[in-house]
Amino acid sequence: MFPEHRPRRLRTTAALRRLVSETTLRPRQLILPMFVAEGADAPRPIASMPGVVQHTRDSLRKAAVEAVRAGVGGLMLFGIPAHRDATGSGGIDENGILNVALRDLRAELGDATVLMADTCLDEFTDHGHCGVLDENGAVDNDATLELYADMAVAQAEAGAHMLGPSGMMDGQVGVIRRALDEAGHTETAILAYSAKYASAFYGPFREAVDSQLKGDRKTYQQDPGNAREALREIELDVEEGADAIMIKPALPYLDILRQAADVSPVPVAAYNISGEYAMVEAAAANGWLDRERTILEVLTSIRRAGADMILTYWATEAAAWLD
Ligand code: PBG
Repeated sequence: MFPEHRPRRLRTTAALRRLVSETTLRPRQLILPMFVAEGADAPRPIASMPGVVQHTRDSLRKAAVEAVRAGVGGLMLFGIPAHRDATGSGGIDENGILNVALRDLRAELGDATVLMADTCLDEFTDHGHCGVLDENGAVDNDATLELYADMAVAQAEAGAHMLGPSGMMDGQVGVIRRALDEAGHTETAILAYSAKYASAFYGPFREAVDSQLKGDRKTYQQDPGNAREALREIELDVEEGADAIMIKPALPYLDILRQAADVSPVPVAAYNISGEYAMVEAAAANGWLDRERTILEVLTSIRRAGADMILTYWATEAAAWLD
């Protein structure tokens, strides 16, 4: 009798397929990134991310409540200030939009969700870099660390449960951990953007935050062709006190995600970023892809590659489908 082996046997009925399915995808594993703009009187659409908006404080609160009701595991906040300066002072100021929004959401939601904040200066600097510049216009690592420390404490004080340092400065996790501890915020967790690549897929995000960046971030974000340094960055972040690590972007870096998940002693997140979102939305809008099936396949693939949690702009909608 040939064929001797028939793997199709386990695919015969929906019930069999369900029984042998290896990868779970649950709402609690999804984290919704959200944008809030200072002084906005109505939510502003982001053209390259159809369905995503720059929120007002009020619409942010409503969308956050809706996401939590849908069962998402957390919210990651990004602020868009009305004014920017060379040092990104609006990111540290307790009255800066991100800190104000954190306070709003913590008051609204308490501990019902995990409130996260982007701990990075690029949304707040007038040059768009993730750190401050030295006299030659290069990003000054150590001067930036001092600002990250202040930013982290301000975000913890505003109610963030977990901070997401995304600037790829050397030593950022250690400096933030120490600053938090010294300020008494020993329970505020750090989700370290450990392996963050200099990716073209961030394009729509730059529109989302009105980024002022002219050049690129290649002196601090990783080269897309390199795998080894991702593992080194993870090791360093864990040593410096990361409570969880992140790989970003997700889809073009599933191999890195797999390698990270195989060795990480802490939970692993992946960021299904703006460009990945835009690609699927554009193709679906043209009728070239089945939107819901594609989104669920994307999220399932990221889970299969090893992510314990996924940051995705589809979090609320996908959570409803999965429920
Ligand atoms: C930096 C930051 C970026 C993203 C998250 N945090 C942009 C960048 O590094 O240029 C991108 C997220 C996305 O593309 O969805 N604060």
